[in-house]
Amino acid sequence: MEKIYSVFFILLVGTLFVNLQISNAAKTYRNAIPPIFIFGDSTADVGTNSFLPTSKIRADFPHNGIDFPNANPTGRFSNGYNSADFLSKLMGHRRSPKPYLYFLKTGLNNKMFRGVNFASGASGLLDVTGKDLNIVFMSAQIKQFRSVCSIMAYSKGREVAKNVLEKSMIAISVGSNDIFGYFESRSTVNPAVFINSLMTAYESHINVSVGNIKALYNLGARKFGIISVAPIGCCPSQRIHNATGGCLEIENTFAQAFYSSLDALLKKLSCELSGMKYALGNSYEMTINVINHPQLFNLTSVDTACCGEGWLNGEKICTSKANLCLNRNNYLFWDLYHPTQYASELAATTLYSGGQQFVTPMNFAQLAAAT
Ligand SMILES: *[C@@H]1O[C@H](CO)[C@@H](O)[C@H](O)[C@H]1NC(C)=O
Ligand SMILES: *[C@@H]1O[C@H](CO)[C@@H](O)[C@H](O)[C@H]1NC(C)=O
Ligand SMILES: *[C@@H]1O[C@H](CO)[C@@H](O)[C@H](O)[C@H]1NC(C)=O
Repeated sequence: MEKIYSVFFILLVGTLFVNLQISNAAKTYRNAIPPIFIFGDSTADVGTNSFLPTSKIRADFPHNGIDFPNANPTGRFSNGYNSADFLSKLMGHRRSPKPYLYFLKTGLNNKMFRGVNFASGASGLLDVTGKDLNIVFMSAQIKQFRSVCSIMAYSKGREVAKNVLEKSMIAISVGSNDIFGYFESRSTVNPAVFINSLMTAYESHINVSVGNIKALYNLGARKFGIISVAPIGCCPSQRIHNATGGCLEIENTFAQAFYSSLDALLKKLSCELSGMKYALGNSYEMTINVINHPQLFNLTSVDTACCGEGWLNGEKICTSKANLCLNRNNYLFWDLYHPTQYASELAATTLYSGGQQFVTPMNFAQLAAAT
């Protein structure tokens, strides 16, 4: 007992001492949490599309958000938080930073320098993806980030802005919608040529003002947390096109090819671009592992959406009229395309602290800590 007391005492005194030091250097302390800037599609969207009155892809209505604080439908395609939230949380933030369009509406301010979420549901690497859906294309997301960088340089000075960007995490989750688009349009483009065109867009060789990794690098970003494409053929929306309810294998093949090409591209870029560091999350492996061993993850359903209509609840989006499951923590899919809050947390935890088979050449925690 006495021993415990003395340990407590030391801890208490230690804490007071540290607190005094911290209050002196409160700013430095807060800055220890790296800023996070998030790009991509609905897997990371925390309400961007809700700010676009004419957007056709949105989730700002129930049952979406049913497990969010106050059962608030925030525009996240989830029953609660999504992977962008959990990743941000693991890095020390409260949840994902707010959408850029939120800042644009309420006033661009210093909070943006701690992070912004640009992700927009239905976007892809190619601007033909999501055409006519009134969303924020990837190319537009990069332009928005460019304005954040300019404002930061203007208000904090170039040197400080450079330092902030260098230690910031750039998280990107994109690619699925381009592959869906390829199949929906019954494209006759050779698969290898198509995957190559996605890599070109990811690298941004068209020009450096519009594009992705190189454009972000040229703006000063150095740390890239990249999330690859999941086995999208296993989404309820795709399974309903297989008479057995099994995964659409051809789409999964594309997801795997996307991963391999992205792995090669990032290896190349990290040699080419001095100071660039990255972590590549293999969403395919992560998710297939869950689908093949559901009981290991306490899941009872990995083929049916929790919220939706029709076969496997995969024929229609989640609305207040749709079927809704009760045990949401036992489902992989929230709706016809998106994971539940529970599955999103599993994914974020794996990205953050997972081993080499799921995230290479380092995990997101190591990327965040890298100097
Ligand atoms: C970059 O690409 C965009 C769209 O593809 C084009 O409008 C713009 O003129 C290009 N800029 C340069 C500098 O080539
Ligand atoms: C449909 O699913 C089965 C597994 O249930 C699989 O063997 C088959 O290849 C799938 N069909 C297509 C067209 O992907
Ligand atoms: C597993 O699922 C059951 C049923 O929903 C739930 O009661 C239990 O808490 C879950 N266990 C874990 C470890 O999540």
